[in-house]
Amino acid sequence: MPFRTSLDAKCACSTVTISRILGRSPNSVCQARFFNYIDGAADDETTYRQNTASFERCDLVPNVLRGIETVDMSVTVLGQKLAMPVYCSPTALQRLFHHQGERAVAAAAAKYGTMFGVSSLGTVSLEELRKAHDTPQVYQFYFHKDRGLNRAMMQRAKEAGVNVMMLTVDSITGGNRERDLRTGFSIPFRLSLGSMMQFALKPMWGINYITHERFKLPQLDDHVDMSGGAMSIAQYFAEMLDPSMNWDDVAEMVRMWDGQFCIKGVMSIDDVKRAIEIGCTGIILSNHGGRQLDGSRAAFDQLAEVVDAVGDRIDVIMDGGVQRGTHVLKALSLGAKAVGVGRYYLFPLAAAGQAGVERALGHMRAEIGRDMKLMGCRSIDELSRKNLRFR
Ligand SMILES: Cc1cc2nc3c(=O)[nH]c(=O)nc-3n(C[C@H](O)[C@H](O)[C@H](O)COP(=O)(O)O)c2cc1C
Repeated sequence: MPFRTSLDAKCACSTVTISRILGRSPNSVCQARFFNYIDGAADDETTYRQNTASFERCDLVPNVLRGIETVDMSVTVLGQKLAMPVYCSPTALQRLFHHQGERAVAAAAAKYGTMFGVSSLGTVSLEELRKAHDTPQVYQFYFHKDRGLNRAMMQRAKEAGVNVMMLTVDSITGGNRERDLRTGFSIPFRLSLGSMMQFALKPMWGINYITHERFKLPQLDDHVDMSGGAMSIAQYFAEMLDPSMNWDDVAEMVRMWDGQFCIKGVMSIDDVKRAIEIGCTGIILSNHGGRQLDGSRAAFDQLAEVVDAVGDRIDVIMDGGVQRGTHVLKALSLGAKAVGVGRYYLFPLAAAGQAGVERALGHMRAEIGRDMKLMGCRSIDELSRKNLRFR
């Protein structure tokens, strides 16, 4: 089985980011199996590498002497006003990486006036997060075989005041993440001799794990037994999620939700057109950070085609490989309405909890502001394809 350790991972795009933001090597911020769960991707990780590399295939063409003293980087997307064009994509299991987990990410997003996603596999309840902050909240949903359960979960999100429903459609089966197979990453935990050694070498994680509230999945509490008994996450995916989900099922969900609804993990123009037909208000052009279908196209490479095909009929958002303010400006210049980040905030979360996520978002905001000035743009709507040249 091909396997790269965290040290020789060639992509290293996220790992460069963590070193830049926190001045620490990525391996020092968390246990190897968590590092590899966050950093890893499917098969040979080609798509993961392409996601960031795709931004290097074009150059920014600035305009000068426009007298720009201040910039406005706010955007309105999925009916939500965001103070910056970057939001925290939903990611699973955050309290595993740092005991503050989703609480830290939501608080940092609120501080920067942006949106955050709560995963179905989140470790803090969507209700608690909704009560704690006013900033727009997305609920990321997986489609279950049990239609009654789907209805109940949507109702719960509605009652909690979730702003945006986001259905992930690229995960009808799990990606082949070979790093996790090698490290033995699983939920619930299985402690091996190797992992006990790791915990002994980096004891703070273990101390925090024991001294803070029990690890749980509140969105799924009634369905997945975290005690290691009835059902693991792998089983949850295999037994409870519905791989036969189709456009009619999603159309019914859209009608039921009756609000901002986007599907995450769409790539083809045909699919984006179907999403418009069934009433979705947004799509996330995404390959799940390269964690599902290796060899699939980078969202940034696919962006222009999709925007050209659908114009303003639906909000086109992208994620995957975003590490810099210039990446964001390139995506917005091609027509994305906003950009999601995953690993960009996850490593800082693992390293320093809320302070880490805040520092990551602070860096991003500073970079976007500086880059907009250097580009000669006062506001996001002044960005256009005239600003870009492909090599
Ligand atoms: C550790 C990890 C967990 C993730 N968990 C979820 C999830 O539960 N649901 C989901 O739709 N996407 C999930 N994603 C995908 C992200 O939402 C996003 O699409 C991806 O991270 C973007 O790529 P980037 O990490 O290069 O920014 C996860 C990604 C990572 C790295």
